[in-house]
Amino acid sequence: MAIQFLGKTLKNPMVLASGILGNSKDILERIHENGCGLVTMKSIGPEPRDGHKNPTVIDLGHGMINAVGLPSPGYLNMENEWRDLEKRDFPLIASVYGGSVKEYQMVAEFVSSKNPDFIEINISCPNSEKHGMIFGINPQSSHDVVSAVKKVINVPLIVKLTPQAPDIGDIARTCEDAGADAICAINTVGPGMVIDIEARTPVLAFKKGGLSGPMIKPVAVRCVFDIYKAVDIPIIGLGGITTGEDAIEIMMAGASLVGIGSAVRYRGIDIFQTVADEMEAWLSDHHCSHEDITGAAHKEG
Ligand SMILES: Cc1cc2nc3c(=O)[nH]c(=O)nc-3n(C[C@H](O)[C@H](O)[C@H](O)COP(=O)(O)O)c2cc1C
Repeated sequence: MAIQFLGKTLKNPMVLASGILGNSKDILERIHENGCGLVTMKSIGPEPRDGHKNPTVIDLGHGMINAVGLPSPGYLNMENEWRDLEKRDFPLIASVYGGSVKEYQMVAEFVSSKNPDFIEINISCPNSEKHGMIFGINPQSSHDVVSAVKKVINVPLIVKLTPQAPDIGDIARTCEDAGADAICAINTVGPGMVIDIEARTPVLAFKKGGLSGPMIKPVAVRCVFDIYKAVDIPIIGLGGITTGEDAIEIMMAGASLVGIGSAVRYRGIDIFQTVADEMEAWLSDHHCSHEDITGAAHKEG
């Protein structure tokens, strides 16, 4: 089930979401070998950042809440990772964040020189004070950051959006106008909070965090549906995808590729091949192809 995406051939439509398995070539390669068509690195920032104090991730059973806080060695301190990754033989998205348009531009320009296949800008992180989401909830700042990054990179640009945008279709259209080649949606939902009632305190050290996993899937499906209506560029749909039927659902909303993050915890690193096989089985039972189902929920009658 090979698929074309922005000029590259992927072995299947499955994508590893950013931030789930880090940036080491060995792990990312293993994920690709285990059935993932396209892997995304953890978001890389302008300077070294520790992230938030533990606990940072709690499994709620029906999904997770996290406030890892964008830990990053900083883009200039990843020589070992880049040296290994430049010799890879699998398709790679490098994810970038910043605290200002200039920082996004600076990091993205440097990362572009390391030859990833795609660059994704994370304008959607809900649990960092000044990074990310603030850009993705406002059309003007989304436009500014996308057009600035587009000027300095030489690979296709993916923009990762937040469901917190008042009109995510409008933001996606603005990003497309500013030069985005694809949209990725969604980042985590929130922030939310979980309180330990015995300890009478929030369970996360940062108190608030982003929600992910099965409980956010209906939000992700709605966002992808709205984005598909607004743009002509392809969409990577993610948020709670755990099974082949989930993948079919988000494709029917309009996704061309399907991302998986939290569900790696629930079904292990083979999940990419498992979900790809489950999708194939569904398509074969229903006598249809990927092309038939992408955006199928928009068709009248
Ligand atoms: C622990 C954790 C860390 C994450 N780190 C990043 C990150 O660095 N950059 C980013 O764009 N998204 C990050 N995300 C968001 C995921 O890539 C994904 O958009 C979100 O979790 C929804 O997908 P899911 O429900 O399949 O997990 C992170 C999510 C989790 C759970």
